[in-house]
Amino acid sequence: MRASSVISSLTLLAATVSTAPLVRSRAAQASDPPFQVSKLVIDTVENGNTTIKFNIYDPDPLTNATATCSGSWKADSTDYPKDTYELCGNSTFAWNFDSFDSVEKFTLGLEHQFTDPSASVGDPPYDQVTNFAHAPVNTTYISCDGVGNVSCKQTKAVSAPIYATVAKR
Ligand SMILES: *[C@@H]1O[C@H](CO)[C@@H](O)[C@H](O)[C@H]1NC(C)=O
Ligand SMILES: *[C@@H]1O[C@H](CO)[C@@H](O)[C@H](O)[C@H]1NC(C)=O
Ligand SMILES: *[C@@H]1O[C@H](CO)[C@@H](O)[C@H](O)[C@H]1NC(C)=O
Ligand SMILES: *[C@@H]1O[C@H](CO)[C@@H](O)[C@H](O)[C@H]1NC(C)=O
Ligand SMILES: *[C@@H]1O[C@H](CO)[C@@H](O)[C@H](O)[C@H]1NC(C)=O
Repeated sequence: MRASSVISSLTLLAATVSTAPLVRSRAAQASDPPFQVSKLVIDTVENGNTTIKFNIYDPDPLTNATATCSGSWKADSTDYPKDTYELCGNSTFAWNFDSFDSVEKFTLGLEHQFTDPSASVGDPPYDQVTNFAHAPVNTTYISCDGVGNVSCKQTKAVSAPIYATVAKR
């Protein structure tokens, strides 16, 4: 895990809220279930674009939410989202690349914000919860075809463990 990127994400988020967020340690909520990534496809066209699309599911019974995330950038460039998160459509999910070696090996960064109706995450009114997860993807989870133009499809469920949680007003 790249601790520096975790800290910068959290610092960024903290900077956008007026009240100090309550950052919970992982040990306190070992019960938060991992996000699930499905229907992942990533394609690259030589001298064209690389495109990615996947579904994400947060099985936490407090939210039980899904979304579709997608992105497109110039192949062989690093113009993909990395330091900031890109929204998944109109949802409360967002994504980026925590690392990107190739279309066959990368780690997705995933973020999901929701309201905890019971505010059970901490002392009220800290009821806005943001969970951060990482989904490592390699050829154990996707199968790729082609040379130059490469198409990859998910073949195995990808589980994304939550590594940090921020609760705020
Ligand atoms: C989650 O949502 C789906 C679809 O709306 C529903 O079928 C399922 O029962 C829900 N699960 C929980 C734990 O709330
Ligand atoms: C390639 O991606 C860029 C940036 O997302 C987009 O503006 C452009 O239309 C795309 N080109 C093709 C051929 O999809
Ligand atoms: C997002 O929601 C707004 C308002 O409901 C809608 O007008 C817009 O088309 C939606 N955009 C997408 C990408 O779904
Ligand atoms: C893919 O990643 C998993 C978990 O990070 C690892 O156990 C596995 O060996 C990797 N597979 C390949 C083909 O590198
Ligand atoms: C890659 O795909 C592009 C766009 O579909 C096509 O023009 C090009 O010929 C393909 N290249 C190869 C090596 O198949």
